[in-house]
Amino acid sequence: MAAVPELSAHGRARRRIPRPPGRPLVGDLAAYQHDPIGWMVGARVAYGDVVQLAPGIVVLFDPDATHRVLSETNVNYVVDSGRLAGARSRRERLSRLSTWKLIRRDLWHGFDSELVDAHVRRYREWMGGADLDRDAGLVDVCRDLCGRGIVDFYLGGDRGTAALVTEIRAAADQLFARSLETLDRAEARVRWWPRPHAARADSANQRLVELLGEVIRQRAAERRSAPARDALDVLLAACGGVADDGLLGTLRMALFASHGVPGVALSWLLLRLAADAGLRTRVLDELDGDPMVTGSVATDIPYTMAVIRETLRLHPPQWILSRTAVQDTEIGGYRVKAGWEVVMCPYLLHRDPGAWAEPERFDPGRWLNATPHPRHSYLPFGSGTRICPGSQLGILQMVSAVQQLFTHYELSLPQFDTVTPAFTTLLHPANVTPGWHRRPEHRSQGGPTS
Ligand code: HEM
Repeated sequence: MAAVPELSAHGRARRRIPRPPGRPLVGDLAAYQHDPIGWMVGARVAYGDVVQLAPGIVVLFDPDATHRVLSETNVNYVVDSGRLAGARSRRERLSRLSTWKLIRRDLWHGFDSELVDAHVRRYREWMGGADLDRDAGLVDVCRDLCGRGIVDFYLGGDRGTAALVTEIRAAADQLFARSLETLDRAEARVRWWPRPHAARADSANQRLVELLGEVIRQRAAERRSAPARDALDVLLAACGGVADDGLLGTLRMALFASHGVPGVALSWLLLRLAADAGLRTRVLDELDGDPMVTGSVATDIPYTMAVIRETLRLHPPQWILSRTAVQDTEIGGYRVKAGWEVVMCPYLLHRDPGAWAEPERFDPGRWLNATPHPRHSYLPFGSGTRICPGSQLGILQMVSAVQQLFTHYELSLPQFDTVTPAFTTLLHPANVTPGWHRRPEHRSQGGPTS
């Protein structure tokens, strides 16, 4: 497409961002919504590394530019892509940023290695005896397994609050489902369009916040000084035993961010393992005999880690990431204005032939070599200041699930090449209903947060 020069406020010539013809006000959103990944692939070929999807929405394909945006998050960009994100005052942004910094610091506090070990053991034992919902789809079963895991890690140490914790698990799941419902809709990217579904997500959020407030109050009232039973005990101790809003924000963020994404990752992993008996045997052999020691998963189980990395390469649940510019800035020689959304695509970076040898081939072996790819080409957990703080925990839970599910169940899943990927807010396998048949020798037991 011909570049149209224009003069910026600073007098430097800037080109207009290449874009498909599209329609007034909504640009090419209808075509994108109809076939998101098809649009991405086509736009990159036709228009290059920076493409305008619609007024105020820019898509980036270049790994270095993507890295720059992610590393400039909290400075030139913010994560919250709400309609007001770009319009917030500097003061409000700074105050949100300082709250977020405290939350991140507290999240790290929660990852105490003894607690992670205790949680993983509890989780594995429970999973070995769990009765899986035979009628549910694969993603729903995996989301439930991972959701139970994360709630157990944060809140599962106190049996006295078990009933409340069960409600919290349901509320976190509900919030995640309602948020997806809002984000997956066509109008989600049109800033001026009314979003009635957002109200349902707001009330689900309100419900979760109320329940979390209640569990925190109950714990704080115990005034316990004994060793921590779970991550909430650790977080409470870090706050001096006082139930404040920061603690509530930390728990809410952890439960929301970890509800759903790990379940989708686990779904892809099970599909990959089910598709290849040799691969599965090698992984299960490596996991035999309890080799997992927290913090050293990667060195203890290199082949399993390679399979997980390769699965996340070809099927990153967060296949796109998004930021909102908070001030006028520049990307690849193009001007991006405050308030614009910048969308990046780990899925395509992970399959870029310029970065990966035979990118479409599922090949865990590539991870056993020292450098399987150039920098900035692998982002399943994001990058920069907002990189996923739960990646190690997520991996431990996936490893536990694989070991327990294949040990205790006969699992039947469709041929991998018949599975259709759905490119919605998360990249998930569409409409897969697994067959779970419990191997006879094992019994059912109470869950970590059943
Ligand atoms: C395989 C599992 C997981 C995957 C693939 C994953 C992926 C991601 C990605 C891509 C981001 C960055 C999003 C962005 O840049 O916009 C992220 C952020 C986050 N993840 Fe995870 N995640 C996983 C598991 C977990 C778990 C188990 C937790 C539990 C605490 C967690 C907590 C978070 C939080 C709190 C954030 C937001 C961080 C921030 O904004 O500062 N994740 N995750």
